[in-house]
Amino acid sequence: MRLVQDISEMKELALKARSSNKTVGFVPTMGYLHEGHLSLVRIAREKCGLLVVSIFVNPTQFVEGEDYDSYPRDMDLDMRLLDEESVDIAFLPGSEEMYPEDHSTSVEVEGLTSVLCGVSRPGHFRGVTTVVAKLFNIVKPHLAVFGEKDYQQAVVIKRMVRDLNMDTDIVMGPTVREEDGLALSSRNLYLNEEERNDASVLYESLLEGRRMVASGAADASEVKSVVTKMIEGKDTARLDYVSVVHPEKLVELQRIEDEAVIAVAATFGKARLIDNIRVFRKERN
Ligand code: PAJ
Repeated sequence: MRLVQDISEMKELALKARSSNKTVGFVPTMGYLHEGHLSLVRIAREKCGLLVVSIFVNPTQFVEGEDYDSYPRDMDLDMRLLDEESVDIAFLPGSEEMYPEDHSTSVEVEGLTSVLCGVSRPGHFRGVTTVVAKLFNIVKPHLAVFGEKDYQQAVVIKRMVRDLNMDTDIVMGPTVREEDGLALSSRNLYLNEEERNDASVLYESLLEGRRMVASGAADASEVKSVVTKMIEGKDTARLDYVSVVHPEKLVELQRIEDEAVIAVAATFGKARLIDNIRVFRKERN
Protein backbone atom coordinates (compact mmCIF):
# COMPACT_ATOMS: atom_id res chain seq x y z
CA MET A 1 0.00 0.00 0.00
CA ARG A 2 1.26 3.43 -0.90
CA LEU A 3 0.95 6.34 1.52
CA VAL A 4 0.27 9.65 -0.15
CA GLN A 5 0.07 12.99 1.67
CA ASP A 6 0.69 15.35 -1.18
CA ILE A 7 -2.39 16.52 -3.12
CA SER A 8 -0.55 16.89 -6.44
CA GLU A 9 0.95 13.39 -6.13
CA MET A 10 -2.53 11.95 -5.47
CA LYS A 11 -3.92 13.78 -8.51
CA GLU A 12 -1.15 12.41 -10.72
CA LEU A 13 -1.67 8.83 -9.55
CA ALA A 14 -5.41 9.14 -10.15
CA LEU A 15 -4.89 10.50 -13.66
CA LYS A 16 -2.42 7.75 -14.46
CA ALA A 17 -4.86 5.05 -13.31
CA ARG A 18 -7.67 6.61 -15.36
CA SER A 19 -5.53 6.84 -18.47
CA SER A 20 -4.66 3.14 -18.18
CA ASN A 21 -8.39 2.38 -18.00
CA LYS A 22 -8.46 1.38 -14.35
CA THR A 23 -11.65 1.95 -12.42
CA VAL A 24 -10.83 4.27 -9.52
CA GLY A 25 -12.71 3.48 -6.30
CA PHE A 26 -12.75 5.71 -3.25
CA VAL A 27 -13.78 5.45 0.39
CA PRO A 28 -13.44 8.74 2.31
CA THR A 29 -13.07 8.39 6.09
CA MET A 30 -11.97 10.27 9.18
CA GLY A 31 -9.97 7.26 10.38
CA TYR A 32 -10.06 5.31 13.65
CA LEU A 33 -11.26 2.56 11.37
CA HIS A 34 -13.68 -0.19 12.36
CA GLU A 35 -15.54 -2.98 10.58
CA GLY A 36 -18.11 -0.47 9.29
CA HIS A 37 -15.43 1.41 7.35
CA LEU A 38 -13.78 -1.84 6.26
CA SER A 39 -17.07 -3.19 4.89
CA LEU A 40 -17.18 -0.18 2.54
CA VAL A 41 -13.56 -0.79 1.56
CA ARG A 42 -14.46 -4.38 0.61
CA ILE A 43 -17.40 -3.24 -1.52
CA ALA A 44 -15.11 -0.85 -3.41
CA ARG A 45 -12.25 -3.37 -3.67
CA GLU A 46 -14.45 -5.79 -5.63
CA LYS A 47 -15.45 -3.18 -8.17
CA CYS A 48 -12.22 -1.23 -8.73
CA GLY A 49 -8.74 -1.47 -10.18
CA LEU A 50 -7.28 1.32 -8.07
CA LEU A 51 -8.67 1.67 -4.56
CA VAL A 52 -8.02 4.85 -2.60
CA VAL A 53 -9.04 5.34 1.04
CA SER A 54 -8.62 8.78 2.55
CA ILE A 55 -8.16 9.53 6.23
CA PHE A 56 -8.75 13.16 7.04
CA VAL A 57 -10.37 14.48 10.21
CA ASN A 58 -12.10 17.34 8.48
CA PRO A 59 -12.15 20.44 10.70
CA THR A 60 -14.87 22.25 8.72
CA GLN A 61 -17.57 19.67 9.49
CA PHE A 62 -17.18 19.95 13.27
CA VAL A 63 -19.55 22.50 14.71
CA GLU A 64 -18.54 24.86 17.54
CA GLY A 65 -18.24 22.91 20.78
CA GLU A 66 -17.90 19.52 19.07
CA ASP A 67 -15.09 16.98 19.45
CA TYR A 68 -12.61 17.96 16.69
CA ASP A 69 -9.61 18.06 19.03
CA SER A 70 -10.49 14.89 20.89
CA TYR A 71 -11.72 12.92 17.84
CA PRO A 72 -9.99 9.52 18.16
CA ARG A 73 -6.94 8.88 15.97
CA ASP A 74 -4.78 5.74 15.53
CA MET A 75 -2.81 6.04 12.33
CA ASP A 76 -0.65 2.91 12.82
CA LEU A 77 -3.63 0.64 13.32
CA ASP A 78 -5.52 2.28 10.45
CA MET A 79 -2.58 1.70 8.08
CA ARG A 80 -2.35 -1.95 9.09
CA LEU A 81 -6.09 -2.50 8.58
CA LEU A 82 -6.09 -0.85 5.15
CA ASP A 83 -3.03 -2.83 4.09
CA GLU A 84 -4.81 -6.05 5.06
CA GLU A 85 -7.74 -5.08 2.80
CA SER A 86 -5.36 -4.67 -0.17
CA VAL A 87 -6.00 -0.95 -0.45
CA ASP A 88 -3.73 0.58 -3.11
CA ILE A 89 -3.41 4.10 -1.75
CA ALA A 90 -3.97 5.56 1.71
CA PHE A 91 -4.44 9.27 1.10
CA LEU A 92 -3.67 11.37 4.17
CA PRO A 93 -3.76 15.03 3.20
CA GLY A 94 -2.63 17.68 5.65
CA SER A 95 -5.18 20.23 6.81
CA GLU A 96 -2.91 23.17 5.82
CA GLU A 97 -2.81 21.91 2.25
CA MET A 98 -6.53 21.10 2.18
CA TYR A 99 -7.48 24.45 3.68
CA PRO A 100 -5.00 27.24 2.88
CA GLU A 101 -5.43 30.19 5.22
CA ASP A 102 -7.38 32.20 2.65
CA HIS A 103 -9.66 29.40 1.45
CA SER A 104 -13.04 30.93 0.78
CA THR A 105 -15.10 28.49 -1.29
CA SER A 106 -17.62 25.99 -0.04
CA VAL A 107 -20.25 23.66 -1.44
CA GLU A 108 -23.70 23.71 0.07
CA VAL A 109 -26.66 21.45 -0.63
CA GLU A 110 -29.79 23.30 0.44
CA GLY A 111 -33.00 21.84 1.82
CA LEU A 112 -31.80 18.30 2.51
CA THR A 113 -29.35 19.74 5.03
CA SER A 114 -31.82 21.79 7.03
CA VAL A 115 -33.59 18.75 8.51
CA LEU A 116 -32.58 15.88 10.83
CA CYS A 117 -28.92 16.38 11.91
CA GLY A 118 -28.77 19.71 10.05
CA VAL A 119 -30.95 21.28 12.76
CA SER A 120 -28.64 20.66 15.71
CA ARG A 121 -25.41 20.76 13.68
CA PRO A 122 -25.67 23.93 11.58
CA GLY A 123 -22.87 24.11 9.03
CA HIS A 124 -21.93 20.45 9.47
CA PHE A 125 -23.12 19.31 6.05
CA ARG A 126 -21.52 22.30 4.33
CA GLY A 127 -18.22 21.05 5.77
CA VAL A 128 -18.95 17.51 4.57
CA THR A 129 -19.94 18.45 1.02
CA THR A 130 -17.03 20.86 0.69
CA VAL A 131 -14.43 18.31 1.75
CA VAL A 132 -16.01 15.50 -0.30
CA ALA A 133 -16.12 17.74 -3.41
CA LYS A 134 -12.44 18.58 -2.86
CA LEU A 135 -11.53 14.93 -2.33
CA PHE A 136 -13.46 13.93 -5.48
CA ASN A 137 -11.53 16.56 -7.47
CA ILE A 138 -8.25 15.17 -6.18
CA VAL A 139 -8.98 11.40 -6.37
CA LYS A 140 -11.29 11.57 -9.43
CA PRO A 141 -13.13 8.38 -8.48
CA HIS A 142 -15.44 6.53 -10.86
CA LEU A 143 -17.15 5.20 -7.76
CA ALA A 144 -17.27 6.18 -4.09
CA VAL A 145 -18.80 4.21 -1.23
CA PHE A 146 -20.65 5.76 1.72
CA GLY A 147 -22.30 4.08 4.71
CA GLU A 148 -26.05 3.90 5.21
CA LYS A 149 -25.32 4.54 8.89
CA ASP A 150 -24.97 8.22 7.99
CA TYR A 151 -28.04 8.10 5.80
CA GLN A 152 -28.59 11.84 5.48
CA GLN A 153 -24.92 12.34 4.56
CA ALA A 154 -25.17 9.77 1.75
CA VAL A 155 -28.37 11.34 0.39
CA VAL A 156 -26.80 14.82 0.52
CA ILE A 157 -23.69 13.59 -1.33
CA LYS A 158 -25.84 11.94 -4.00
CA ARG A 159 -27.69 15.21 -4.52
CA MET A 160 -24.43 17.18 -4.75
CA VAL A 161 -23.08 14.76 -7.37
CA ARG A 162 -26.29 15.03 -9.40
CA ASP A 163 -26.63 18.79 -9.12
CA LEU A 164 -22.97 19.51 -9.93
CA ASN A 165 -22.75 16.86 -12.68
CA MET A 166 -19.86 15.08 -11.01
CA ASP A 167 -18.61 11.90 -12.67
CA THR A 168 -18.75 9.68 -9.62
CA ASP A 169 -21.23 6.89 -8.87
CA ILE A 170 -22.28 6.86 -5.24
CA VAL A 171 -22.79 3.42 -3.70
CA MET A 172 -24.34 2.96 -0.25
CA GLY A 173 -23.07 0.16 2.01
CA PRO A 174 -25.23 -1.39 4.75
CA THR A 175 -24.73 -0.50 8.43
CA VAL A 176 -22.42 -2.81 10.35
CA ARG A 177 -23.54 -3.40 13.95
CA GLU A 178 -22.36 -4.85 17.25
CA GLU A 179 -24.06 -8.04 18.40
CA ASP A 180 -26.70 -6.09 20.35
CA GLY A 181 -27.47 -3.93 17.33
CA LEU A 182 -25.52 -0.77 18.19
CA ALA A 183 -24.15 0.66 14.94
CA LEU A 184 -20.35 0.74 14.90
CA SER A 185 -19.04 4.28 15.25
CA SER A 186 -15.70 5.80 16.12
CA ARG A 187 -17.60 7.76 18.79
CA ASN A 188 -18.74 4.60 20.65
CA LEU A 189 -15.33 4.84 22.31
CA TYR A 190 -16.66 7.72 24.45
CA LEU A 191 -19.35 5.56 26.10
CA ASN A 192 -18.98 4.26 29.67
CA GLU A 193 -20.50 0.91 30.57
CA GLU A 194 -23.95 2.20 31.47
CA GLU A 195 -24.14 4.45 28.42
CA ARG A 196 -22.95 1.61 26.19
CA ASN A 197 -25.72 -0.66 27.51
CA ASP A 198 -28.34 2.06 27.10
CA ALA A 199 -27.20 2.92 23.57
CA SER A 200 -28.46 -0.38 22.18
CA VAL A 201 -31.97 1.10 22.57
CA LEU A 202 -31.43 3.07 19.37
CA TYR A 203 -31.54 0.01 17.15
CA GLU A 204 -34.10 -1.78 19.34
CA SER A 205 -36.46 1.17 18.99
CA LEU A 206 -35.91 1.29 15.22
CA LEU A 207 -36.70 -2.43 14.95
CA GLU A 208 -39.89 -1.82 16.93
CA GLY A 209 -40.78 1.01 14.55
CA ARG A 210 -40.16 -1.25 11.58
CA ARG A 211 -42.36 -3.98 13.09
CA MET A 212 -45.20 -1.49 13.59
CA VAL A 213 -45.00 -0.27 10.00
CA ALA A 214 -44.69 -3.78 8.54
CA SER A 215 -47.83 -4.80 10.41
CA GLY A 216 -49.82 -1.90 9.02
CA ALA A 217 -49.14 1.26 11.06
CA ALA A 218 -49.33 4.20 8.68
CA ASP A 219 -49.51 7.10 11.13
CA ALA A 220 -45.96 8.42 11.50
CA SER A 221 -46.69 10.16 14.80
CA GLU A 222 -47.82 6.87 16.33
CA VAL A 223 -44.55 5.22 15.29
CA LYS A 224 -42.49 8.20 16.47
CA SER A 225 -44.14 8.22 19.86
CA VAL A 226 -43.30 4.53 20.49
CA VAL A 227 -39.68 5.02 19.37
CA THR A 228 -39.39 8.21 21.47
CA LYS A 229 -40.71 6.50 24.62
CA MET A 230 -38.26 3.63 24.24
CA ILE A 231 -35.25 5.94 23.91
CA GLU A 232 -36.38 8.32 26.65
CA GLY A 233 -36.83 5.29 28.92
CA LYS A 234 -33.05 5.02 29.22
CA ASP A 235 -31.47 7.05 32.06
CA THR A 236 -28.39 8.14 30.14
CA ALA A 237 -30.15 9.06 26.88
CA ARG A 238 -30.79 12.64 25.81
CA LEU A 239 -32.96 12.47 22.71
CA ASP A 240 -32.24 14.86 19.85
CA TYR A 241 -34.83 13.69 17.31
CA VAL A 242 -36.97 10.85 16.04
CA SER A 243 -38.10 11.42 12.46
CA VAL A 244 -39.99 9.47 9.85
CA VAL A 245 -38.91 10.76 6.46
CA HIS A 246 -39.18 10.16 2.73
CA PRO A 247 -36.11 8.08 1.69
CA GLU A 248 -34.82 10.55 -0.92
CA LYS A 249 -36.44 13.91 -0.15
CA LEU A 250 -35.93 13.56 3.61
CA VAL A 251 -39.16 15.47 4.26
CA GLU A 252 -41.10 14.51 7.36
CA LEU A 253 -44.00 12.17 6.55
CA GLN A 254 -47.38 12.28 8.29
CA ARG A 255 -48.53 9.05 6.65
CA ILE A 256 -46.36 6.14 5.58
CA GLU A 257 -47.75 4.97 2.25
CA ASP A 258 -45.15 2.56 0.96
CA GLU A 259 -41.72 3.10 2.43
CA ALA A 260 -39.90 5.50 4.71
CA VAL A 261 -36.76 5.91 6.78
CA ILE A 262 -36.97 6.21 10.54
CA ALA A 263 -33.97 8.23 11.75
CA VAL A 264 -32.91 8.86 15.34
CA ALA A 265 -30.21 10.88 17.11
CA ALA A 266 -29.45 10.89 20.82
CA THR A 267 -26.59 11.75 23.09
CA PHE A 268 -25.30 9.27 25.66
CA GLY A 269 -22.74 10.98 27.89
CA LYS A 270 -20.28 12.62 25.51
CA ALA A 271 -21.30 10.62 22.45
CA ARG A 272 -23.89 11.90 20.01
CA LEU A 273 -25.06 8.80 18.16
CA ILE A 274 -27.29 8.41 15.11
CA ASP A 275 -29.00 5.48 13.49
CA ASN A 276 -31.74 4.79 10.96
CA ILE A 277 -33.74 2.02 9.37
CA ARG A 278 -35.62 1.62 6.12
CA VAL A 279 -39.23 0.55 6.67
CA PHE A 280 -41.81 -0.89 4.28
CA ARG A 281 -45.55 -1.25 4.60
CA LYS A 282 -45.99 -3.78 1.85
CA GLU A 283 -44.25 -7.12 1.59
CA ARG A 284 -41.26 -6.86 -0.72
CA ASN A 285 -40.10 -9.79 -2.82
P1 PAJ B 1 -16.47 8.62 9.08
O1 PAJ B 1 -17.38 8.89 10.21
O2 PAJ B 1 -15.07 8.18 9.35
O3 PAJ B 1 -17.17 7.54 8.16
C1 PAJ B 1 -16.61 7.16 6.94
C2 PAJ B 1 -17.62 6.30 6.20
O4 PAJ B 1 -17.88 5.13 6.96
C3 PAJ B 1 -18.96 7.03 6.00
O5 PAJ B 1 -19.45 6.77 4.69
C4 PAJ B 1 -19.84 6.39 7.06
O6 PAJ B 1 -21.22 6.39 6.73
C5 PAJ B 1 -19.29 4.97 7.07
N1 PAJ B 1 -19.63 4.25 8.32
C6 PAJ B 1 -19.45 4.68 9.59
N2 PAJ B 1 -19.94 3.76 10.47
C7 PAJ B 1 -20.44 2.75 9.74
C8 PAJ B 1 -21.09 1.51 10.05
N3 PAJ B 1 -21.32 1.14 11.31
N4 PAJ B 1 -21.48 0.70 9.03
C9 PAJ B 1 -21.25 1.06 7.73
N5 PAJ B 1 -20.64 2.22 7.37
C10 PAJ B 1 -20.24 3.05 8.35
O7 PAJ B 1 -18.49 10.08 7.45
C11 PAJ B 1 -17.39 10.58 7.56
O8 PAJ B 1 -16.33 9.95 8.15
C12 PAJ B 1 -17.07 11.98 7.04
O9 PAJ B 1 -18.21 12.78 7.12
C13 PAJ B 1 -16.51 11.99 5.58
C14 PAJ B 1 -17.53 11.43 4.59
C15 PAJ B 1 -15.20 11.17 5.52
C16 PAJ B 1 -16.19 13.45 5.17
O10 PAJ B 1 -15.27 14.02 6.03
